[in-house]
Amino acid sequence: MQAKEEEKRAFDNDRAHVFHSWSAQDKISPKVWAAAEGSTLYDFDGNAFIDMGSQLVSANLGHNNPRLVEAIQRQAARLTNINPAFGNDVRSDVAAKIVSMARGEFSHVFFTNGGADAIEHSIRMARLHTGRNKILSAYRSYHGATGSAMMLTGEHRRLGNPTTDPDIYHFWAPFLHHSSFFATTQEEECERALKHLEDVIAFEGAGMIAAIVLEPVVGSSGIILPPAGYLNGVRELCNKHGILFIADEVMVGFGRTGKLFAYEHAGDDFQPDMITFAKGVNAGYAPLGGIVMTQSIRDTFGSEAYSGGLTYSGHPLAVAPAKAALEIYAEGEIIPRVARLGAELIEPRLRELAEENVAIADVRGIGFFWAVEFNADATAMAAGAAEFKERGVWPMISGNRFHIAPPLTTTDDELVALLDAVEAAAQAVELTFAGALF
Ligand SMILES: Cc1ncc(COP(=O)(O)O)c(C=O)c1O
Repeated sequence: MQAKEEEKRAFDNDRAHVFHSWSAQDKISPKVWAAAEGSTLYDFDGNAFIDMGSQLVSANLGHNNPRLVEAIQRQAARLTNINPAFGNDVRSDVAAKIVSMARGEFSHVFFTNGGADAIEHSIRMARLHTGRNKILSAYRSYHGATGSAMMLTGEHRRLGNPTTDPDIYHFWAPFLHHSSFFATTQEEECERALKHLEDVIAFEGAGMIAAIVLEPVVGSSGIILPPAGYLNGVRELCNKHGILFIADEVMVGFGRTGKLFAYEHAGDDFQPDMITFAKGVNAGYAPLGGIVMTQSIRDTFGSEAYSGGLTYSGHPLAVAPAKAALEIYAEGEIIPRVARLGAELIEPRLRELAEENVAIADVRGIGFFWAVEFNADATAMAAGAAEFKERGVWPMISGNRFHIAPPLTTTDDELVALLDAVEAAAQAVELTFAGALF
């Protein structure tokens, strides 16, 4: 009874006083959770739900992971708040560890509070480093909800916002399923997308472009994998014109795709100039983001000051769980398992489902990061959501897509239960949509 009262108080105060992101405030009814453990969320009635989207694809190491909790507790008892101008042993350890784990030649890390501010600082550094002002990013991308990050975002979430950074330009990245290039194969899509980007660069003035910002696997805008050779082709264009390549790994970094960073799928020779990260770096146990940069970018600010900073750049309570998380990633069990189960369990099951279910338009993904896209309307998608909940899964649904992105620590049995629920929810979508047609 007491628990139900707590739930009611939380809900009532939320409705009376909390302003929510991305929402028409009168049209929402936020679920209040009582607890979470591993890949499971518990409500106030004691119902358990598998966390299909790892919150906003951040809880890579699950909920209440004892090693991360203990790291925060230990740090809280020692030092909780220190001006970022001072040295901070945990922050130094985390920077050194990220630099040593990131594939490629990197030297320094600048810590932020999350993904959007990592993007803001990365493009500011790129502009100051190159002395150029234009930045290119792709349509169908999300880079955050602050000034320039919002302008970089290449989809509907940008629309309705005032233009805060007029020197950002968009191009079409490859996406065969909705090809902007009338392509019929991945090879064609890749070749034509690169030719299009080359033209955009030429017409925007190659010598005026500081950076191209790309998600190495597009996340919330659709879970879209680039065709083989695309990132390498963009890298070549960047090299040719002195443009920096910024890989936005905020959603896909730290194991989500079966590699530490998703750009690693582009092969051993590929490396970006900067990596932006957040979320999985500490599995979302405290707000943290950052930029990994090369020595040459760091040296631009060797004798001239970088005009930028944050009160909490590498906050002790945020870097402490990051240190524990990086140790877990470095132990080498979780990420290879994500790659293996993505290829051997999730992919075959979803492809089989797509054969049987006429409402499914496309299945795509890698590791623990999959989209099932439907030809269906909002009513049918809502029927899918209801079916998920019936089956003990809290769904992640974006428009006409299921996004399957559970914690990387999800057990084999939980994954099977999740995939069973995906199948049932997809059937509910199919039946509701077909029912509406006939
Ligand atoms: C690729 C990408 N970049 C940037 C961001 C913004 O991160 P934050 O919400 O921490 O500001 C996100 C958030 O989902 C993201 O997915």
